[in-house]
Amino acid sequence: MKKLLLFVIIVFIGMQFVPYNVPADVPDKEGDALQAPKEVEAILKRSCYDCHSNHTNFPWYSSVAPVSFFTKMHVKEGREHMNFSTWNSYSDEKKAKFLEKIPKAIKSKMPLPSYLLIHKDAKLTDADKKAISDWASEAAFDLE
Ligand code: HEC
Repeated sequence: MKKLLLFVIIVFIGMQFVPYNVPADVPDKEGDALQAPKEVEAILKRSCYDCHSNHTNFPWYSSVAPVSFFTKMHVKEGREHMNFSTWNSYSDEKKAKFLEKIPKAIKSKMPLPSYLLIHKDAKLTDADKKAISDWASEAAFDLE
């Protein structure tokens, strides 16, 4: 029993040295970040930016492995899929595709349920969802 505990402790400590670095804050390139109406931007910042922007608020426990592996993976993947900080570097076609996907995503899986367990304030109200969906269809219309 003691040996097992010691083994677990050593593995846990060893894990902390596995390099897996996702930068929390990368400065925006001039003009690259999404410009949305203030109200919409506030909602996106609160509920989406931790994973879909280059400005992530990592809570302390997300630097403790193995939790860090999951949080960082979500952030890395989220940014790779769609990044509001580099929005204007996307083609109009790609923006249009995201704007079509966003209202669907917030109806089903976004923000990720595991994230909402801890970030209660990121939960979207019906009014938030409507504001995002209305903005997305207007922004898509403006692209055409
Ligand atoms: C905890 C991290 C996290 C948060 C918070 C989050 N997302 Fe995501 N999002 C992801 C990940 C990871 C993926 C890619 C995998 C997937 O689609 O499930 C993704 C994918 C997406 C996609 C699909 C993009 C594509 O490639 O087509 C959309 C749209 C999206 N998210 C919208 C949102 C919106 C809107 C919010 C805020 C209301 C949000 N997400 C909040 C992690 C997150």
